[in-house]
Amino acid sequence: MKISFSRLELPATGVVVVGVNEDRVPSSSAESLNAALGGLVRRAMEASRFRGKKDQTLAILAPTGSELARLQLLGLGKPAELDALRLQAAGGQIYATLAGNGHVDAFVCVDAIADCPLSPAEMAAEMAFGAELRSYRFAKYRTKEGEDDKPSLATLTFGCAEPDRAEALWRQKAAIAAAIAFTRDVVSEPANVIYPETLAEQARTLTSHGVEVEVLGETQMRELGMGALLGVGQGSARESQLVVMQWWGAGKPSATLVPAEGEEAPEVDENGPLAFVGKGVTFDTGGISIKPSGGMEDMKWDMAGSAAVIGLIKALALRGAKVNAVGVVGLVENMPSGTAQRPGDVVKSMSGQTIEVINTDAEGRLVLSDALWYTKQRFRPRFMIDLATLTGAIIIALGHEHAGVFSNDDALAERLVAAGKAVGEPLWRMPLGDAYDKLIKSDIADMKNVGDRSAGSISAAQFLQRYVGKTPWAHLDIAGVAWTKKDAGVTPKGASGFGVRLLDRLIEDNYEQK
Ligand code: BES
Ligand code: MN
Ligand code: ZN
Repeated sequence: MKISFSRLELPATGVVVVGVNEDRVPSSSAESLNAALGGLVRRAMEASRFRGKKDQTLAILAPTGSELARLQLLGLGKPAELDALRLQAAGGQIYATLAGNGHVDAFVCVDAIADCPLSPAEMAAEMAFGAELRSYRFAKYRTKEGEDDKPSLATLTFGCAEPDRAEALWRQKAAIAAAIAFTRDVVSEPANVIYPETLAEQARTLTSHGVEVEVLGETQMRELGMGALLGVGQGSARESQLVVMQWWGAGKPSATLVPAEGEEAPEVDENGPLAFVGKGVTFDTGGISIKPSGGMEDMKWDMAGSAAVIGLIKALALRGAKVNAVGVVGLVENMPSGTAQRPGDVVKSMSGQTIEVINTDAEGRLVLSDALWYTKQRFRPRFMIDLATLTGAIIIALGHEHAGVFSNDDALAERLVAAGKAVGEPLWRMPLGDAYDKLIKSDIADMKNVGDRSAGSISAAQFLQRYVGKTPWAHLDIAGVAWTKKDAGVTPKGASGFGVRLLDRLIEDNYEQK
């Protein structure tokens, strides 16, 4: 679908979308249309339950004599509540109502609205963003789709004052939308197509946007001592990978801080890059602690954390963000086989800490332990944020409405929660503490990889915390939000791309040079 912006003039043909505020208060375009068509708009509203509530729509066929195809009324709700998120949702709603009706071109009239905090150009750009996100489809494997099964809408034009400004705002958002589509694509791919090496190949494509990409294989990881990550992948026929992406948008530091004789380098470098670490289990069978077969197909999504990290770095590069950021993703396939690790095995992580693997299905934390330690040692980042579809327990706690955030740093947690609220990817802070840490004491090693049945998401986070040292760190458990089972708002059914918008916003609001 092609999105464009133009001056606000009622079109003569095609579909025209006009806004109506709550209590059937028409926008000026709705009023003009009503006048041009002899009172049709008001009559149609009165003959229906359409009240202009948010996301309500009413389709009106254009009468004989008009060249228009259809008038679409769009409820905008209360003007004072028309913020960026509401407008994105409205854009998503426009796309959802028009895409499959056989119409090819639609024109959206974006009028100034008193009390709305946004200008028409800003409103248009937000609506375009919502429409673009909602129009995402993963259809490459459908070979028998007829023309009537495909979306017909090919162009969506937003008419507003200052269309050039809307276009400029949109260009920034389009970069983020492209990165989200990239994330959704790789998450949607089945596990016979996306496995550690092919996902690493996808990350490598970021090179063309100016990102430095390195891929470490099993030999290199063995040399580094990454026994925890490698243990998870050892039952798979696919080779495990660790991908390191570096984006130096604020300029690569010329010399790294050299510690004085006899002194150790500080663990956290205030000028270090921001670091993002992702769980990339390309398929999680559970390993020898095998999962039940019902619903196991969902475990192709278990690399969503890594896909969000790759998508985020892509977004930063596409919009030329003036920030230094690194992305590190641990890519493995968790399979049962004659070479798979067994419950009870003890592995040694790169940090030197040993782990008793009680349950091979608690594999994400094993992968992240080595990825986090490596990131901390190599980059001495200003902070580390990891994303992982880590626990089913977070779905029990928060459902599909919030991701869980765990952090050793209140300021970072607060910034994350604020960014999540601003972009519509909400986070809910969860606790950490010594009492929870005791849950993962092992009888024979430094820790075990599961606690008891209580506080499953927290004991997983406690495990991760043992690998971050003093570095400010946050862990996002995205198991409940990485994909959705039905179309809603700006997210069609399937992979959501959760995390890309959130972290891009966190960076833009707090860490970017202006
Ligand atoms: N990938 C799963 C978590 C998950 C479950 C994500 C459902 C999305 C939907 C993770 O590797 C896992 O299996 N976790 C176990 C941990 C348990 C063995 C302590 C779980 O949540 O059951
Ligand atoms: Mn698992
Ligand atoms: Zn998993």
